[in-house]
Amino acid sequence: MKGLRRLEYRGYDSAGVALLNDTLNVYKKKGKVQELVDFIEEKDTHAQIGMGHTRWATHGEPNDANAHPHYSTSERIAIIHNGIIENYAALKTHLQQQGHVFHSDTDTEVFVNLIEEIKKQNNCSLEEAVRLALHEVVGAYAIVVLSKDNPNQLIAARKGSPLVIGVGKDEFFLASDATPIIEYTNEVVYVNDYELVVIRDGKLEIRSKEDVSQTPYIQKLELELESIEKGGYEHFMLKEIFEQPRSILDSMRGRLELEAGHLNMGGVRAYEQKFVNAQRIIIVACGTSWHAGLVAEYLLEDLARIPVEVEYASEFRYRNPVISERDIVIAISQSGETADTLAAIELAKSKGATIFGICNVVGSSIARATDAGAYTHAGPEIGVASTKAFTAQVTVLTLLAMIVGHKRGTLSDVKLRELMVELSNIPSKVEQALLLDTEIKQIAEIFKDVPNFLYLGRGYNFPVALEGALKLKEISYIHAEGYPAAEMKHGPIALIDENMPVVVIATKDSSYEKVVSNIQEVKARKGRIIAVVTEGDQVIPAMAEFVIEVPATSEVLMPLVSVVPLQLLSYHIAVLRGCNVDQPRNLAKSVTVE
Ligand code: F6R
Repeated sequence: MKGLRRLEYRGYDSAGVALLNDTLNVYKKKGKVQELVDFIEEKDTHAQIGMGHTRWATHGEPNDANAHPHYSTSERIAIIHNGIIENYAALKTHLQQQGHVFHSDTDTEVFVNLIEEIKKQNNCSLEEAVRLALHEVVGAYAIVVLSKDNPNQLIAARKGSPLVIGVGKDEFFLASDATPIIEYTNEVVYVNDYELVVIRDGKLEIRSKEDVSQTPYIQKLELELESIEKGGYEHFMLKEIFEQPRSILDSMRGRLELEAGHLNMGGVRAYEQKFVNAQRIIIVACGTSWHAGLVAEYLLEDLARIPVEVEYASEFRYRNPVISERDIVIAISQSGETADTLAAIELAKSKGATIFGICNVVGSSIARATDAGAYTHAGPEIGVASTKAFTAQVTVLTLLAMIVGHKRGTLSDVKLRELMVELSNIPSKVEQALLLDTEIKQIAEIFKDVPNFLYLGRGYNFPVALEGALKLKEISYIHAEGYPAAEMKHGPIALIDENMPVVVIATKDSSYEKVVSNIQEVKARKGRIIAVVTEGDQVIPAMAEFVIEVPATSEVLMPLVSVVPLQLLSYHIAVLRGCNVDQPRNLAKSVTVE
């Protein structure tokens, strides 16, 4: 149960357990893990082996029947599964003809019946039946299987969805990520695609696709238990917002050495020449990571003068993109498990591009699929809405643009030095921005019941406007849109009236005057302006209804500071509306399905 709670951030619409003693008991319940805890209180939970699952629905609505684990028809085998089986409909029809009975709408129940059918047809071991079944399913999976007939055995496998083994003293753990494991052991083995894991009679065996036994590669985790707990904060999201001065510093640690005047990033070193000669950089990502990619577009074009395209990973992979060997693809992902981003990487790889990954989760699938990369070192992000991962991504991308720009000669020594000094001041400026918390909460009180919000920004602050709008909609369920401020007059201006709050990020930069004009346009239509401005601004406070002052910094670094009040605004609005900020409805932390 503790393990499931730790994994709950990955999906939380239903949960279940399978426990094996003399009988194989499956208990499952719609809703959060707590519902399951209450449900099993009176049940027989005695077992020497077991597995549990917390779900994010793909096939079939969240209800008790669709929750995992799923039984096979004979109720002798049980399975838990992450991912999607694409050919489940054809398999299901075939299995129904063989007499299998289904109780859910899930693809997972098809999987477990397929294993049972193969086992019966071939009269083989469970392990062999799982292996053969994996050849028949198309799609992505991480599965764990247990059977009443093999009471000392767990079988697991993965393709596309993450799976990690914890190696304890006389015990093993299997999980989607390391968070439920670190309490018991810091030794882990990351399972690779197509590998089959058998834990039997206290021993671990990993077999390759070709069915050859592998020596497990045991790695030491550097994850602290405190980093995945709330540490006195009411929510993980708030804790993570407040961690940013430290997480930004951690993302620069060992990379920006001010005194020595050095910038260095291990992952870039071997590919430095590739970056210098890059014809083009394509950035692929989703959601908040895509917004970090947009900031990087401004940075890399500005500082390194390399053309950049920022693509939604999900769109990129289903186009027929023009990619050459001289292109570099940067994949950005907090979790390192996003299925769309992973698929975009595979496509770019197949066309010969060099892939550079920027991930937060160490050992994640994307980190392992890329040619080189840099970790963001933000520490575990548990709140489903991404906050500290975004600022860490932007920090790493800023360092990258500075390194490449300097090597290419497009960023002078003097400018580089200036930026290094300013970047090293960012943690304390974020600290200052966090002092706005109480003030922002008051603004949140005023706007908590509105149905819509508009966010405007230009230049480096345009991606910040998008990110502010995304944060608000995902945790408070208020409809919000982010727009480039100048684009407003081409349509969204029609939405503005005396009821529309408009958050304008209007810090002192090269488009400041233009943004001031945009504010006038909003004001003329009676929009309610909440302006994020640079400390000491004399002009905008006279026009805006609410003003949030952030410390001044270089234009290229401003997103790292200006995003902070927007994170706090959405957090407070969501809390005041009674929303579950850490686990917003319909969402999951790692989107491991397409
Ligand atoms: C927003 C959010 C999502 C993720 C997106 C990509 O707060 O968390 O939009 O940014 O699902 O996830 P990663 O970065 O793990 O690839």
